[in-house]
Amino acid sequence: MKKNMGVVGAVMVGLLAGCASVKTADFDEIKLYTLKNKAGTTVKVTNYGATVTSIVTADRDGNLADIALGYNDVSGYMNAVDKPYFGSVVGRYGNRIAKGKFSIDGQEYTLATNNGENHLHGGVIGFDKVVWDAEIVGKNAVKFSYLAKDGEEGYPGNLQIAVTYTLTEESELKIDYLATTDKKTPVNLTNHTYFNLKGEGEGTILDHELMINAKATTPVDSGLIPTGEITPVNGTPFDFTSAKAIGRDISKKDRQLEYGLGYDHNFVLDKGGKDGQMTLAATVYEPTSGRFMEVFTEEPGIQFYCGNFLAGNLKGKAGKTYVHRGGFCLETQHYPDSPNQPAFPSTILAPGEEYKTGTIYRFGVK
Ligand code: BGC
Repeated sequence: MKKNMGVVGAVMVGLLAGCASVKTADFDEIKLYTLKNKAGTTVKVTNYGATVTSIVTADRDGNLADIALGYNDVSGYMNAVDKPYFGSVVGRYGNRIAKGKFSIDGQEYTLATNNGENHLHGGVIGFDKVVWDAEIVGKNAVKFSYLAKDGEEGYPGNLQIAVTYTLTEESELKIDYLATTDKKTPVNLTNHTYFNLKGEGEGTILDHELMINAKATTPVDSGLIPTGEITPVNGTPFDFTSAKAIGRDISKKDRQLEYGLGYDHNFVLDKGGKDGQMTLAATVYEPTSGRFMEVFTEEPGIQFYCGNFLAGNLKGKAGKTYVHRGGFCLETQHYPDSPNQPAFPSTILAPGEEYKTGTIYRFGVK
């Protein structure tokens, strides 16, 4: 690669088999972009699913490792076993909608159900499984755009979406989301990157020290649908208000941990009265490498999912097995099932309004 080349567009892979469920099978349109800053942080993104495929950062001794789980080629993303949604943008509604049903202004809508009786991450062919338009919009910035059609996966309204990834010289990966609609529709976009700050495929994330800036969660039923309550974390395994190892309390007897098979819950962020503004949501520190990560968001919630459904049957980009809990996600978002929960912040976008939100993952060492 040429020196100082901010963004490089390159065809990701050639023709692949077994992609019957993929809407657009024009592989020539699938591109991989490399964002690289002077500190040596490198992020790769593809317009297949607006997916982050790789994040390479230095540890405290300057050794580089890829800290994002994923695949080496697009067939991995298309045919993913157990659908982990590695690195993708998920939507139109990230997270679950109970029974795939909701009503707007008295009109009931039925969505595709793909998680038992519920709707998860946009349905059978969500935004993670479509090819987005791509445009280089700055030195280290790529914008992906997609028009989700009225009726797609059951959602009302043509939704025009843009997601821009920018890598700054401060090793921040900025994700800016923008959407407009021509009919009222729920929208809840997030990025589904799995991190392992030791490096992808380097064991579990149970020793990572996590802080979540949240005094409450939205507890769920056995199908991981919120009950509607907002419950304090104080005195429970969900208290991450001070940094603690993810594994410290994960095996404690707790109904919510049983339902999630570990942590798989929405945390209600302390916005300090700054609703809709960028605030610190979480920090993660991995003691052996010294890698440290901060998450900032304008969103009111964050889904902390610690890879409970990784079953040890996937191999990573370097050929190493992704073990159970071999990666964690911090998915900034509105709360799950908000269209059916009047007390939760609204996720309904109306014509004439703009869905505009941002999240930053900042990488460093301590
Ligand atoms: C959900 C999990 C789900 C995972 C992968 C997460 O966002 O909360 O329940 O298994 O995505 O699909």
